[in-house]
Amino acid sequence: MNLVLLGPPGAGKGTQAERLARTLGLYRLSVGDALRAAVAAGTALGRQAARYLEQGVLVPDEIVQQILEAELRRPEAQAGFVLDGYPRSLRQLALFDALLARLGRRLDAVILLDVPDEVIVERLAGRLVCPCCGATFHQRFNPPVPGRLDPGCNAPLVSTDGGVRSAICPQPLQRRPDDQPEVVRKRLEVYREQTKPVLAEYARRGLLRVVDGQGSPDVVFQRILAILPTGTPLA
Ligand code: AP5
Ligand code: MG
Repeated sequence: MNLVLLGPPGAGKGTQAERLARTLGLYRLSVGDALRAAVAAGTALGRQAARYLEQGVLVPDEIVQQILEAELRRPEAQAGFVLDGYPRSLRQLALFDALLARLGRRLDAVILLDVPDEVIVERLAGRLVCPCCGATFHQRFNPPVPGRLDPGCNAPLVSTDGGVRSAICPQPLQRRPDDQPEVVRKRLEVYREQTKPVLAEYARRGLLRVVDGQGSPDVVFQRILAILPTGTPLA
């Protein structure tokens, strides 16, 4: 099973990709997460990508392609993958088609998480991210529970000094720098102008499955499972 998960910023792609990977035994690849990891590690790719991430615009295809191809060639990705946030432009779609052909792979479905703008703004304004493992929370909708072992995080969460911290990472949960309102506006603009044509093309190919992204993460996940190709084995 090879899946692509698309949707506007804050639609819940990361939240649902993690669940899909865990439930279906798929390799999860988020281009955004991989780029942020490269920036944090200070690699040559990361240094090139940083300013695009800060501005909320697409990182050049040459950089993204290198990451994508290396990831899809990993042994863990051979049994199936869920790709979060790629392709985001028609040019990326053409490059992706060529890469899949070279690797002898094909897509089973492209899932669009459909969420209106006002919900997006609320979700991104309250998002919190664990700097040690990347687990994502929301102040209101998915609050970190002190002492609970979160399924997306390897670190048990503990509360210290009134702030929520992970037991392994000494830093408090953080906001993503690109969740500032002016950068969110730019990311939405990029989505409308560059990514929406990709959705139209996948719809034309009969691969697009539109899922209502509103409701709790568990409810949205059940909707996704319901539209997957029949006979999908659970891990
Ligand atoms: P990326 O990191 O992919 O950001 P994005 O697409 O803007 O999406 P987000 O990660 O912000 O949101 P999400 O849909 O994953 O939602 P989440 O699950 O976190 O990309 C960032 C940047 O990287 C881009 O701007 C670009 O520069 C670069 N990049 C990435 N891909 C690229 C590509 N292909 N080409 C070139 N450049 C690329 O949820 C959001 C919040 O809502 C969380 O707090 C969560 O807890 C909460 N939440 C989730 N689901 C629900 C729910 N059902 N109900 C209530 N709250 C919910
Ligand atoms: Mg994400």
